[in-house]
Amino acid sequence: MDKAQKTQKKWLFYVVTFLCFAALAALIVGVVAAFRFVYGVTFDFLTLFTSALVIFSLFATNFLILRSIGKGDASSVVLTYSALLITVVASIVCLHFDFAFAMPLAFLPLLLGTDFDKHAALSSHLTSISVVAVAMVLFFYRSEKFVFEDISLQVMTLVVNVGMGCLLIFLIKPFSGRLRVLLTASSVVLSFGILGFISAGAVGGNPDLMQMITVGVSVVVGGAISLFAYFCLSPVFERVFNLNTGLRLMELCSFDQPLLKELEEKAPGTFNHALTVANISERAAYAIGENPTLAKAAALYHDIGKMENPEFFTENQTSGYNPHDELIPEASVKMITRHTEAGAKILEEKGFPKEIISAALEHHGDSSVGYFYHKAQNITEGTLEEKGYTYPGPKPQTKINAILMVADIAEAATRSVRPSNRDELVTLVDNLVRQKMQERQFDECPITMAELTKVKEAVVNTLMGVHHERIAYNTQQKLKK
Ligand SMILES: [Fe+2]
Ligand SMILES: [Fe+2]
Repeated sequence: MDKAQKTQKKWLFYVVTFLCFAALAALIVGVVAAFRFVYGVTFDFLTLFTSALVIFSLFATNFLILRSIGKGDASSVVLTYSALLITVVASIVCLHFDFAFAMPLAFLPLLLGTDFDKHAALSSHLTSISVVAVAMVLFFYRSEKFVFEDISLQVMTLVVNVGMGCLLIFLIKPFSGRLRVLLTASSVVLSFGILGFISAGAVGGNPDLMQMITVGVSVVVGGAISLFAYFCLSPVFERVFNLNTGLRLMELCSFDQPLLKELEEKAPGTFNHALTVANISERAAYAIGENPTLAKAAALYHDIGKMENPEFFTENQTSGYNPHDELIPEASVKMITRHTEAGAKILEEKGFPKEIISAALEHHGDSSVGYFYHKAQNITEGTLEEKGYTYPGPKPQTKINAILMVADIAEAATRSVRPSNRDELVTLVDNLVRQKMQERQFDECPITMAELTKVKEAVVNTLMGVHHERIAYNTQQKLKK
């Protein structure tokens, strides 16, 4: 695609997006007008048009903020505005049924803050509150004199919800577990219920206990509905938008997963290798501030492509039979290197998150399969091009995939070299990373030298734990000699 086509596509995307915003704004105003019409309240065209214009402007501003934080792509925009629409329409329904204090305005911050992006969640939360405020003004619209006291409690509820949503976004860590989300969100909701109770007493300067209890309980009910909706709809959003949520990642790490069970059955050696690589990657990711659960899940599935022909990989050759003995090196290389693309294809077909697919594809980068290259060189006269003896790539594009590359080669090398003490292990890991750097495997990902040092430390520490008995035993043997 040339530059002109790209620019054309970009402008087409903007035009479609803004048209959709106009349609959404009209829909929201239309829903409010329809609800009010049930009670015989009608609006003049100018009021409806102005309200729709304000909502459209709020949507457009939020879109510009999303773009500025790198979340302006089609998928992110559809995700954000779906959550926004659900929240706003549910709140309008609450307004219609005189249930205004229990509007589920915390749904959006919970969903986007936990599973997507905190900045996008904050901006969209404030947008949703503002849109509901516009809807609220329309709801309490009277042709006669507008009385603010009529809606002072509802406005106060909106303000309480601004605080509740912001605190939820701030407190709930992305990739938190289900229980943690439940506990944190419940505490926040209860606290804001108390705040709602106190604030209701302060409005108008004439405390009414029933009113205070109604508002306090309603804020808690609204939070509970939001939390319930989050748990129900989060898996749907995960599937539709292929989100890498903490809940989904933890599910993927469970040994109940059919694909992991299949790997264990067909390629037990690869399964055990993946378990150790997962432990190493999780610890290394934690050490450099990356998502440990994503690293663990990516590592568990990184060699899933080996299920196609497990006997071609040393970790599964328990009977002593090696099919490579009957193949020319070129054929062996093809059988081995295809596991990256085969794995990515399996994961793609099963609807795995794109980060896990890329890990399967990139964990060997475009490294050469040295053993078979040298074997081929020995039986070839003259020089042999290394090109046909490498993995197809691409090189790791993310820090997690770089971690996986190091963890993968370190685990495999430790099994074959069998270092007998920590120093030998440190040297081995150092050499492996140096070799990958010389092959320029980390050139396309943002990992720094300082981070690579931390990754190496985590690799050594985890492998020391895994092979502790063997290493300790060998050290004792050495001392005896
Ligand atoms: Fe691999
Ligand atoms: Fe591997």
